[in-house]
Amino acid sequence: MADVVLKKVWKRYGALNVIKDFNIEIQDKSFFVLTGPPGCGKTTILRMIAGLEDVSDGSIYIDKLKVNDMLPKNRDIAMVFQSYALYPHMTVYENMAFGLKLKGYSKKEISQRVNETAEILSIVHLLEKYPKELIDGQQQRVAIGRAVIRKPKVFLFDEPLSNLDAKLRWQMRNEIKKLHEKLQSTMIYVTSDQTEAVTIGDKICTMKNGKIQQIGTAKDLYENPANKFVASLIGDYSMNFFEVDVLCRGSFVFLNEGSFEFKLPDQFKDKILPYVGQKITVGIRPDDIYDKLFCATNDELNNLNAIVELIEPLGNEKFLHLNTGKNELVMKVKSNNQAKINQMIELVFNFSKSHLFDVENGVRII
Ligand SMILES: Nc1ncnc2c1ncn2[C@@H]1O[C@H](COP(=O)(O)OP(=O)(O)O)[C@@H](O)[C@H]1O
Ligand SMILES: [Mg+2]
Repeated sequence: MADVVLKKVWKRYGALNVIKDFNIEIQDKSFFVLTGPPGCGKTTILRMIAGLEDVSDGSIYIDKLKVNDMLPKNRDIAMVFQSYALYPHMTVYENMAFGLKLKGYSKKEISQRVNETAEILSIVHLLEKYPKELIDGQQQRVAIGRAVIRKPKVFLFDEPLSNLDAKLRWQMRNEIKKLHEKLQSTMIYVTSDQTEAVTIGDKICTMKNGKIQQIGTAKDLYENPANKFVASLIGDYSMNFFEVDVLCRGSFVFLNEGSFEFKLPDQFKDKILPYVGQKITVGIRPDDIYDKLFCATNDELNNLNAIVELIEPLGNEKFLHLNTGKNELVMKVKSNNQAKINQMIELVFNFSKSHLFDVENGVRII
């Protein structure tokens, strides 16, 4: 088992910087997730850790040892890909045994390890089958089995569940999490699905254009996003964003949207004063906008009116798509909410749960 550290890692293809000054410390036995949109460099990071890709600049350490120049086969790492890459002409048993055979393990040892691993992954009944006889979830289990059997120091998963349907993905995700508990090994898991990222990771690294945006627990990222990008990436429902003018009247600061205005709670004043006369971006989640009919107002809360334009049922709850006259907002309400299309409703913002971002660079101010 091992920790994995990347220090000032860069990756260039010619003039193109695909990874920029990457610094991460992944603790031994942790479940570390890398997430971000397609093309942001997730696979490149994994491939550099595995040794399948050179590092242009910086260092990678596995178990305190610098591995920049170490061959992939000596790094003791196993990688599971999105495509299962099983050998079609071999049974599940043979697929799993293959790597050990190459390493010269005895038949007895191989059989013992295959059975033990098949047990862990609940695929004992599949050992004599060929890949084409397996359904997707089973193929992915075998692919994971092929990694587990090697007992590597570190597991790398590159979007291993993205080919599965939603239900199977959920099931396999929980199984991989259980596998991590059982094996107590370091796992680095890549996904572009933020729900998967926050449910599976102890620590989550969000990235964009080859650069780290924020590393933290799911709660950190959700409650205190470092910037607008992380705020929009994390969460089951997209955050609402809109721009406001920052105004100062008397000793109070107001945020003016054009069709409504709120008074900034005093505790935030110091941070916003430098923005007076400029614009800032407000971010608020659909869960943190309330229908005034159902909530008692107090000083912290701010009111505005908006017209309901669309109602989107969600089972137990529903989304109301609203128009303030200037911006569109989405709020979440209970399914028994009586609001109708074209109706004007009075809204209350929970300011303590909203965020304010710098318009230029997206950095969170509050
Ligand atoms: N061999 C290569 N040559 C040039 N550009 C590459 C190469 N491999 C990857 N890239 C580029 O690096 C960026 C990151 O790719 P990748 O790590 O695959 O992203 P992700 O896994 O997050 O989708 C992409 O813009 C991709 O086009
Ligand atoms: Mg990728």
